Amino acid sequence: MPMRSKMTPFFQTLKGGLFESVNKADVGDNADKMKADNVAMLSWADPFFPDDRMDEDIRRAVVSSLGDGTAQHYTAPIGNAELKKVIAEKVARFNGIPADPQRNIIITPGSDSALFFSLIPFVEHGDEVMIVDPSYPNNFQAVEILGGVPVSVPVRPETGFELEIEEFERRLTDKTKLVILTNPNNPTTVVYSRKSLEQLAAFIVKHDLLAIVDQAFEDIVYDGREMVSLGSLEGMLQKTVTIFSISKGMGLSGFRVGCIVASDRLIDTLFASAVSVVGATNTAAQLAAIAAYGKRDELIAEYSAIFDRRRRFVYDAPGVRMQMPQSAFLSWIDVSQLGTSDEIVDYLVREAKVFVNSGNCYGSQGEGYIRLVQGCYADDADIEQAVLRIREALLNKSRERGIS
Ligand SMILES: Cc1ncc(COP(=O)(O)O)c(C=O)c1O
Repeated sequence: MPMRSKMTPFFQTLKGGLFESVNKADVGDNADKMKADNVAMLSWADPFFPDDRMDEDIRRAVVSSLGDGTAQHYTAPIGNAELKKVIAEKVARFNGIPADPQRNIIITPGSDSALFFSLIPFVEHGDEVMIVDPSYPNNFQAVEILGGVPVSVPVRPETGFELEIEEFERRLTDKTKLVILTNPNNPTTVVYSRKSLEQLAAFIVKHDLLAIVDQAFEDIVYDGREMVSLGSLEGMLQKTVTIFSISKGMGLSGFRVGCIVASDRLIDTLFASAVSVVGATNTAAQLAAIAAYGKRDELIAEYSAIFDRRRRFVYDAPGVRMQMPQSAFLSWIDVSQLGTSDEIVDYLVREAKVFVNSGNCYGSQGEGYIRLVQGCYADDADIEQAVLRIREALLNKSRERGIS
């Protein structure tokens, strides 16, 4: 019997492993081949990738955990007690979410696993999960792996990709169980307004749903925008699981440290199953995270100045149609006049020697867009040169199509 037929329905039809190529450079040797061909990789949401820009205090924390042998051993499955304490302080101060470090926080190997782990107790076969479209691909896939049904809730460029609560209302059924929200959004970078989050909170409370909110990109927001945590709004403490990461704002993706914050009743089963599902997060990486939280404000100020410069550079490039990024280091570029997302991704690899992401990886609303990560590389010049090549190629394409 073919191996696939032994698998669950979702895995039977899953594409993109060893034997099929999909338009992502994540698997196999696509990325290596492109690098060998001098293609600039602006496709990983990984600050400064692939360069070394590690803060020296953080580097020292890791090295000393190796020197004194601490790194050899497990922490508790739910995480290092000191790390949970510093996260609890930050979550209270910055997010307005009260968290007891011993009861309301679990450290996870990155926020990707935090997202999946948080969904496991809630999503079973046929449950509908509302997901803003476009958003982070794992939101859709994690739900499908568990047999749930992702329900896309569109956001539109005409309204600046803000949440539209009527779109949620319209899709509500008796199978709707929860809402997954990535805030700030990847790929649109939108930092959802307090007003729209209050409307979403009222919707969730009214219909007795739950929210899983991924705030991996919360650290860097621009233009005086307010970063509001859904879990801090009225009635939402008992209904929200919030996920955080050190990968994006603090530029430490390789350490794989994220966390889950939730009230006692929500996190209870995660505590009970952490040893089976998570094991424990890497000990040296958790010590690096303590050092990182110790200088979070300083790191964020430094990195946000760099990424602010770069977002303006991309935005100002003629021929590039996009909304000014509201957070972090992504650009969401409308190429619909020039071709499909996949066509433009391939075209840019060929003509501009730059690899970006196809918008259709982020949901059906992403077709006609590409995502570019201006956070890559340590040196601004690497980004500027790649963006100039993109600009040139897009202008040529416009001329070819008789647009410009
Ligand atoms: C929205 C979002 N959440 C979570 C992650 C995963 O982050 P981590 O490195 O914490 O697993 C990513 C990575 O790109 C992301 O874009």
